[in-house]
Amino acid sequence: MSLVQEIDYGTPRAKAVKEVTLTIDGEPVTVPEGTSIMRAAMERGTQIPKLCATDMLDAFGSCRLCLVEIEGRAGTPASCTTPVATGMVVRTQTDRLKRLRRGVMELYISDHPLDCLTCSANGDCELQDMAGAVGLRDVRYGYAGEKHPNPGKDESNPYFTYDPPKCIVCSRCVRACEEVQGTFALTIAGRGFDSVVSPGMQESFLASECVSCGACVQACPTATLNEKAMYDIGTPEHSVVTTCAYCGVGCAFKAEMRGEELVRMVPYKDGEANRGHSCVKGRFAWGYATHKERILKPMIRAKVTDPWKEVSWDEAIAHAASEFKRIQAKYGKDSVGGITSSRCTNEETFLVQKLIRAAFGNNNVDTCARVCHSPTGYGLGQTYGTSAGTQNFDSVEQCDVAVVIGANPAAAHPVFASRLKKRLRQGAKLIVIDPRRTEMVQSPHIEAAYHLPLLPGTNVAVLTALAHVIVTEGLYDEKFIRERCDWDEFQHWAEFVSLPQNSPEAVAKLSGVRAETIRGAARLYATGGNGAIYYGLGVTEHSQGSTTVMAIANLAMATGNIGRPGVGVNPLRGQNNVQGSCDMGSFPHELSGYRHISIDSSRQLFEKDWGVTLDKEPGLRINNMLDAAVDGSFKGIYIQGEDILQSDPDTKHVSAGLEAMECVVVQDLFLNETARFAHVFLPGSTFLEKDGTFTNAERRIQRVRKVMSPKNGYADWEITLLLAKALGYAMHYDHPSQIMDEIARLTPGFANVSYQMLDERGSVQWPCNDKAPDGSPIMHVNGFVRGKGKFIVTEYIPTDEKTGPRFPLLLTTGRILSQYNVGAQTRRTGNSVWHSEDRLEIHPHDAEQRGIRDGDWVKLASRAGETTLRALITENVAPGVVYTTFHHPDTQANVITTDFSDWATNCPEYKVTAVQISPSNGPSRWQQEYEEFSRESRRITPLEAAE
Ligand code: SF4
Ligand code: SF4
Ligand code: SF4
Ligand code: FES
Repeated sequence: MSLVQEIDYGTPRAKAVKEVTLTIDGEPVTVPEGTSIMRAAMERGTQIPKLCATDMLDAFGSCRLCLVEIEGRAGTPASCTTPVATGMVVRTQTDRLKRLRRGVMELYISDHPLDCLTCSANGDCELQDMAGAVGLRDVRYGYAGEKHPNPGKDESNPYFTYDPPKCIVCSRCVRACEEVQGTFALTIAGRGFDSVVSPGMQESFLASECVSCGACVQACPTATLNEKAMYDIGTPEHSVVTTCAYCGVGCAFKAEMRGEELVRMVPYKDGEANRGHSCVKGRFAWGYATHKERILKPMIRAKVTDPWKEVSWDEAIAHAASEFKRIQAKYGKDSVGGITSSRCTNEETFLVQKLIRAAFGNNNVDTCARVCHSPTGYGLGQTYGTSAGTQNFDSVEQCDVAVVIGANPAAAHPVFASRLKKRLRQGAKLIVIDPRRTEMVQSPHIEAAYHLPLLPGTNVAVLTALAHVIVTEGLYDEKFIRERCDWDEFQHWAEFVSLPQNSPEAVAKLSGVRAETIRGAARLYATGGNGAIYYGLGVTEHSQGSTTVMAIANLAMATGNIGRPGVGVNPLRGQNNVQGSCDMGSFPHELSGYRHISIDSSRQLFEKDWGVTLDKEPGLRINNMLDAAVDGSFKGIYIQGEDILQSDPDTKHVSAGLEAMECVVVQDLFLNETARFAHVFLPGSTFLEKDGTFTNAERRIQRVRKVMSPKNGYADWEITLLLAKALGYAMHYDHPSQIMDEIARLTPGFANVSYQMLDERGSVQWPCNDKAPDGSPIMHVNGFVRGKGKFIVTEYIPTDEKTGPRFPLLLTTGRILSQYNVGAQTRRTGNSVWHSEDRLEIHPHDAEQRGIRDGDWVKLASRAGETTLRALITENVAPGVVYTTFHHPDTQANVITTDFSDWATNCPEYKVTAVQISPSNGPSRWQQEYEEFSRESRRITPLEAAE
């Protein structure tokens, strides 16, 4: 195996359709108009020496190494900044050019320390390569670079270093931070020999606005900005292309290895979701894979108060299987169930639901999408006929108005946020609908045209008010609606939204958003060109989550913003494979491909393939399993890669449910919070240790490739096979590709998907079958999947969770950039330097009324429970609203959240909880008890001692 090397064409691809033919070194070349000479030369295989150019960035023209001669033109222009022209005759290699380039290189090298042999980038340095390329053999001005400024090495960032003497001031890092990432954290300070890259106001990287995305490190042609692992481990010697296991953006990376050791994750330029960019999580936060707290041996215990006992795989699997069999014999077939993981691969998820349906013989299977995007599946299924987003991420490059609702992509979907911000800097307009003044509302060179800071729980009212303006002001797209939707249903809906109670003026009172802001936003979305809606959990995690999704779908149909690039309805999915886990049949009522279990023809297809009879009744959802456990009828559960105790609402209810069960089997990397109530612990494998596929928020199926052997002994799919066999239902697969073949055989939208296809093409978006052999980048192009698009009346029904004198504030929750979900992975990496605790954001007015100062401990109480955490006073939240993250188990924000949920899907109402806050001296009693229990439940007797 060798390192995967992508070609650097020097400047970005030109988008023009018109082509231009020129001659380079005597050969004709045809390229799109606007292409640089450098890129045109590279496309025919001629690499012109370069230092300041790279195809991730616009041409800059500062290093003067890429000089060429053009017939009929004076001088030697830079090929990176000179566009091609018809009939142009270019020479890239002449004696004069060679002499000039050597002269330029001589100056660079004279200002650079010559410590190549001991440099961390030795063998991975463009300066070194270019010195060779121009044939530099001598330097007349000395080698030491002693005039170069050296303010000292900056090692403040946990993952990379900045070593100023090695800097050639090419500005690639500064431009990457601006153009690719959009953070504008870097500048070149000083002039001439004093020029130096400076984060923020000449601060350290850690103290500056830098968000550690790694784009500058990637862009740096020298070792000035270099990963610390390159110092610690050495340069990589082979690499494997794989997919990030954090969020639903699905960035492709090259895992660069030295033997079995991962040196660095480098964003892959051919990755169609990320186009060579990354965020701090995927790029750097993979250290959890080898963290000392990772559990590598299976464990069992009779009671949850006992210490864990390490056992062999055989014993653990046999014990789990016999417990499930005993429970089913005693309490009935339906007394057990399981939860699939949205962090695991499609193949692994498919196997778990197969085990439950075929080996347990019931449909008690659910997944974490229940608590995040199940309303997306329902709402888009009802209106458009398919349970997924409509676009690819490239589509954002053609949008004119972006509406971001209930999402903070800068924190939760950072690479998508960078792509959106780039489009906004090019002139697209932005509408943000969010209770918080998120980074999307205002950040360097970005300002939302409208921010609708609505009160949590009023999404439906505000979206219907937008529709009111669009309909009553005649801004809808009648041609689109008549062609693509049911006109009578539209009229019925139009009549409803036009009612006076849905006017912006009426809605302003209950939502807190000014009527003229609602009117302005509606007009902009309807008339501003291509309108694209992006939304997150601030839409779905409400008692009216499904209604809100339908209201969004209505808006897109009414304005004709569906079925072409630049528009659409785009749920930003949370976990890496939450789209996939839904597609794979993880819900109790649906087989893979969203086919209802009660439909005989669908069920029979699976029965024939699997050789079993399936139950035609839908099984229990997660919350129903927990209810049934408390009631005494549900006794055993197999949980793969999911921490329901920390991630699900109303923690006390979850713990009561788990406590009531006789066999809880947890399969995970760490002894997570749920494992406190487990009787069997099966150590899981990381995404680096297995083959498979993930499906991202664009419906894009991408390969996950094994780069190292599983440290626990087995990949997760193999563990499920062991358990199924012990339960008496053996499944036979030698490789995950065979599981994908079965998925393709049984799932119409995946019919043409195979590992061979994915390896050849890189990735594909479902549906991918005979009707769409190349996959489906954009959905509903010539018609909706369900036939006619369906307008659905979205009446606003306020949540039952109400503020009052005891609980006068509204709590809403979200994520932070550096942490991921329940934090089990990111808390075990260097990312903790940015977020070591969950804080409660409080508006200064609310804080002052209660005598709370920044950093004080506060008690946060709701009808469900109470916890304590420290205050962060900020105007990012409106008066009356407080906000926190849920990344740390010692905070347990979900002790506070209630068990209210979406009417259609039971998705919990995380985003609205009536609370009160008050000064506090320390942890609540619940937290103290929990800490004690946590310590007790993590005791382990090692295998050697147990023998
Ligand atoms: S790591 Fe990213 S945010 Fe930080 S300076 Fe580099 S490009 Fe900018
Ligand atoms: S740090 Fe690297 S990318 Fe930035 S100016 Fe210096 S050499 Fe260029
Ligand atoms: S944006 Fe998401 S998928 Fe991409 S690197 Fe970050 S966490 Fe991974
Ligand atoms: S690469 Fe063209 S001027 Fe630097």
